[in-house]
Amino acid sequence: MDISPPLTPAVLPAPLPAIPPSMESRSDETLPQVNPSMCSAKTAVVPMVYVPVETPVWIKGYSSPLSARCVENYLNDTLTMTYVNRIDEGGFSKISAWQGPDGHIYAVKIIDSKHREKTSMKGELKALPLRHPNIVRTYGVVCQADKQFHVVTEDTLGATKADEVGIAAIVTELVPGKDVMELRIRDELPDNLETYLSIVIQTCKALTYLHQECQLVHFDVKEENIMYDKETGAAKLIDLSFLRSSSDESFTAGVIGTYKALSPELIQTIRDGKRMVNDPSVDIWAVGSLLMSLLTSSHSPAQFNKAGTSFFPNFVPSKTDRIIIEQRILNFAKTRPNLKKLLIKSKIYNEKILKIKDILDLTVNLLSEKPEQRYSIDQVVKQLEEISVRLPVPPGKMN
Ligand SMILES: Nc1ncnc2c1ncn2[C@@H]1O[C@H](COP(=O)(O)OP(=O)(O)O)[C@@H](O)[C@H]1O
Ligand SMILES: [Mg+2]
Repeated sequence: MDISPPLTPAVLPAPLPAIPPSMESRSDETLPQVNPSMCSAKTAVVPMVYVPVETPVWIKGYSSPLSARCVENYLNDTLTMTYVNRIDEGGFSKISAWQGPDGHIYAVKIIDSKHREKTSMKGELKALPLRHPNIVRTYGVVCQADKQFHVVTEDTLGATKADEVGIAAIVTELVPGKDVMELRIRDELPDNLETYLSIVIQTCKALTYLHQECQLVHFDVKEENIMYDKETGAAKLIDLSFLRSSSDESFTAGVIGTYKALSPELIQTIRDGKRMVNDPSVDIWAVGSLLMSLLTSSHSPAQFNKAGTSFFPNFVPSKTDRIIIEQRILNFAKTRPNLKKLLIKSKIYNEKILKIKDILDLTVNLLSEKPEQRYSIDQVVKQLEEISVRLPVPPGKMN
């Protein structure tokens, strides 16, 4: 994944929104100013009231089915952006670096046309007002309505009726580094507790902001969705397509997030055909799964069978495998805490990590079967930071 360094920032003309002072990781950024209207539990995080825009940025003339090529043309012709290079390809999208008219390099995720339907998650729209040093900044969402594209920015969000648009592309900050899964696959992730704790603490800080200030649930916390820059040590949460309001009860059952990190209550809800659980505790389970995976070199609850051995690689599972994964997660969740601890310990090969007992207790708590038994996100940050300061200082870092 070759990412060009950011170019000199400048002012980006309309229709893209305001430009960051720098494309570099801004881990020193002060905590964001939160719009009070975003943060009330009772108020929707994103105003979805439809107010027609006076001068919407529409483009006409593209005929159905508005393929990825049409989106690229729109980025080129209307947003005057230039393709730079490919970053990654997901199941439903392609992520590439594009240069804006201001010279800045952005990450643009183009969604496949068949996944652009009106029922898609639209979490990206909720992401527009978010400001946090550990969350990827979303600048613009290219929406498709009536066979036309237009860009929704934070400023025009109130004029967008989410039910009436499909999301064609998302323009975000280009985050330096690589995702944690890729680092692991390339064997570039330092195998030490300091690095793991730092990644998880930063992820949890992002989640504290989402859960407690914005009443949002991420729903897809996993290694692939956390970017880590080894140079600066900064970690950022990406892939905000499943963002949901924790007060939103209007969803029906269906899979949300990734199989391997599904919480047991979510699996049960899906199986029972009941309404979705929009509780932040599903993210806490996912953090437990992430922590377990980091500590054990990729063994998460989804990979444990009854004998405690693992064999599932990380992949998009078939229907049969999904059922197996679900059952494994449910079985793991039901396992007694002491046995969970033993199972996790049996997969930790790093002697130094094994000596830090608190981290195992914390992981087991996050993977509690009952959501109410899991710590809240700020408690997780506190515990992780306490563990972090108690870690022995590596000889090279002593004065
Ligand atoms: N803003 C970004 N900056 C740099 N790399 C990114 C960015 N967004 C995504 N990526 C890379 O592309 C991969 C897939 O992106 P993601 O948004 O997670 O899509 P998907 O829906 O396919 O999971 C990520 O795992 C990461 O490696
Ligand atoms: Mg992803």
